[in-house]
Amino acid sequence: MTTDSSVLSTMPTAKRVALLNRDDRLFHVILAQQVQRETIDHLCKLAEMIRTVAETRQGVHFLRTLLSHKRAMLYFIQPSTRTFLSFASACQILGMPYDEVRNPSVSSEIKGETEDDTIRVLSQYFDLIIMRHPVEGFAETMAHELDALHLSIPIVNGGSGKDQHPTQALLDIYTLLRSFAEDSGPKGIPSFAHDRMAGKTIAFVGDLKRGRTVRSLVYLLGRYPGVRLRFVSPPELGLEHDIISYMKRNEMEYETASDLGEIIGDCDAVYMTRLQDEYDIKGESKSIDYDRFRLSADMAPQFKPNLAILHPLPRRNELDRALDTDPRARYWDQVKNGMWMRAAIIAYIFNADAAILDHFQSHYTY
Ligand code: NCD
Repeated sequence: MTTDSSVLSTMPTAKRVALLNRDDRLFHVILAQQVQRETIDHLCKLAEMIRTVAETRQGVHFLRTLLSHKRAMLYFIQPSTRTFLSFASACQILGMPYDEVRNPSVSSEIKGETEDDTIRVLSQYFDLIIMRHPVEGFAETMAHELDALHLSIPIVNGGSGKDQHPTQALLDIYTLLRSFAEDSGPKGIPSFAHDRMAGKTIAFVGDLKRGRTVRSLVYLLGRYPGVRLRFVSPPELGLEHDIISYMKRNEMEYETASDLGEIIGDCDAVYMTRLQDEYDIKGESKSIDYDRFRLSADMAPQFKPNLAILHPLPRRNELDRALDTDPRARYWDQVKNGMWMRAAIIAYIFNADAAILDHFQSHYTY
């Protein structure tokens, strides 16, 4: 009994979420809709604690003992730099050995083994599979397949085609909250439960149709009442209907705009994205004038003093390099935050979060 992606696409989201979570905790991490607000708060706090503990040699040694008895597989068969390396670094931080498959042409798939069989084999060697795959729904289908075969190990989605990228969305929330934080407690542990999103205006710019990071982040922002969203994209690359109906159902405040220059002055954060032309069927995005969806340094006089500029990277020309030295550029922080957030996610999956909390409380005050 397996659940293929055609069945999944017609299943209500609540049912899909229930199949992926266990006892109200994330087991597989596949969809942003699985993540409740209290889990987001918890993971942000955990990420902040891990980064603080890792500042000392003794803390680094403590963290390395946490998951030395577990092993991870990084199955990344779609190109990746940051997601792959931040997950690999997160495993190292937690002392968790990992192995990788990045090129199926050197695995038995070249001999005709199906990908399903490959994943079943991986489940016999490892305790966790972190997966990036070009096909939407593949990670979720594999999660159900392993469950049905009683071979369950957690699967974490590191990017599923055009669909979702939930761990990127979590690190983006962490970055936004850090950027919006005005008051930090001792040792810089802000209270992530405190609502810093309310009243903030966040613009998403570019290829919103195929940008999986945007899709997952909008789902997570649905957990923050009072946030205001603005969407700026070429007409052909606007948000898909599932996201629009999610925002309507959740009574989120949003507007679309055609000109970034007209709205940038009102924004507290801007989330830039590149053209996702690897998903073109016949080069259709070649005719799109993407220059209109570029954040340029010439616009800086209009920026709010505390604007947070985010980009999941890689970038092309849509984000002016002249902004790299502007203190409002948060995309380098995003890269680093990804490592701490992914360490938090892995620690949480294996219930090592309580040990981190204990260690933190006995060494720091906050
Ligand atoms: C993004 C991705 O792969 O979806 N990058 C990332 O994970 N940091 C964005 C992109 O490729 O444009």
